[in-house]
Amino acid sequence: MKYLFGLVLLLLLAAGGVMTSVLVLRWTNNMTATAKIVPGERVFVMPAGTLPRTGGELTPPREARDTAAKRANPVKGTPESIAKGKALFTIYCTACHGQGGKGDGLVSPKFIPPPDITHPSIQKARTDGYLQHVIGTGGAVMPAYGEALSPEERWDLVNYLRSIAQK
Ligand code: HEC
Repeated sequence: MKYLFGLVLLLLLAAGGVMTSVLVLRWTNNMTATAKIVPGERVFVMPAGTLPRTGGELTPPREARDTAAKRANPVKGTPESIAKGKALFTIYCTACHGQGGKGDGLVSPKFIPPPDITHPSIQKARTDGYLQHVIGTGGAVMPAYGEALSPEERWDLVNYLRSIAQK
């Protein structure tokens, strides 16, 4: 009787062990371990014969930043474009970058603090094409906005960023 009890206990422990390992295995091998493509990070070529509703400008993939940086800004930095960019900046970017672009948004102390994007190290070093591409495809940690914002809206944002550059 004593041995039977011991045996049953052993079996139960073994079953518990197996179940725990299955749990651990499933916990560590889940979808988060697979390759992740952030929405908007990559824009695929449209199937032949498809007509875009607006524009038709494709966003080069994230890896093609050098090529993207060479694109000229097709949207003139008019007061209207800057105003549109400012409104979009308030909605999408202030949380991290702060209204003035200094990197003092409410989220930044809890996140990786963004750089001061009014600073010459960005304003002088980056082309419009580069900035528009970063906004569309994201930075090292900055989210991608290619899905939320049209290419034109992203050029408006670039025009706004240029307007708040340090003189
Ligand atoms: C979740 C926080 C967050 C949001 C929201 C955010 N950014 Fe950023 N941004 C960052 C961080 C962090 C960096 C610096 C590291 C990196 O490149 O990812 C950065 C970098 C940048 C840079 C400099 C890139 C370079 O390589 O020089 C620009 C320009 C920029 N952001 C513009 C924007 C604009 C415009 C928006 C709104 C559409 C925006 N960001 C929204 C966090 C954010």
